[in-house]
Amino acid sequence: MRIVVLISGRGSNLQAILAAQLPAQIVAVISNKPDATGLQVAQAAGIATQALAHTTFASRAEFDKAMIQIIDGYQPDLVVLAGYMRILTDEFVNHYQGRLLNIHPSLLPSYAGLNTHQRALDDGVKVHGCTVHFVTPTLDHGPIIIQAAVPVLNNDNADSLSERVLCMEHQIYPTAIHWFIGGRIQLAADGKVNLLNNNGSEQTV
Ligand code: GAR
Repeated sequence: MRIVVLISGRGSNLQAILAAQLPAQIVAVISNKPDATGLQVAQAAGIATQALAHTTFASRAEFDKAMIQIIDGYQPDLVVLAGYMRILTDEFVNHYQGRLLNIHPSLLPSYAGLNTHQRALDDGVKVHGCTVHFVTPTLDHGPIIIQAAVPVLNNDNADSLSERVLCMEHQIYPTAIHWFIGGRIQLAADGKVNLLNNNGSEQTV
């Protein structure tokens, strides 16, 4: 199985995915930000990298079209968004339907969008966390594959909370990708996630 990873920043999830030594080939890491430090993580691991600055495109649609061309050049079976901070066009999402995963730093459907940790603290929630989901056209609302919960502590600030959530992200993203590689998860026609048990029987989550 061939995987393309899209990033915009430091690439710690990319690093966790690489460290998991999954039975698949990461064929490229692509960033919309040429200075993303995650590109160096990929290069150090001997993975092909490309940067396509979204700022050089007149529209989101044109940028996403160009991204599709680059990504498809690597013939991926799976596209993994790992801290890829771009809102995607419907065209992009539909092109990779059923083979596009994202990780988000909250227990979706709570706290879609940005600044998830501070918003959780402001609301006084006692449990926060992270989610891996299939990407669909509605931002951060695709069918959920796996979540991890993290308790919010009395003395937490956004940095301390995000650090503990990130640790869990590094566990659940490789797990979800492993399931995908093994054919254990599929995006069903009804928009739910089918999870196949080890014995091959099916269960909807
Ligand atoms: C992660 O916390 C990820 O969940 C988040 O960006 C961070 C990237 O960190 N993604 C989003 O907010 C997407 N909506 P990383 O570059 O170290 O993996």
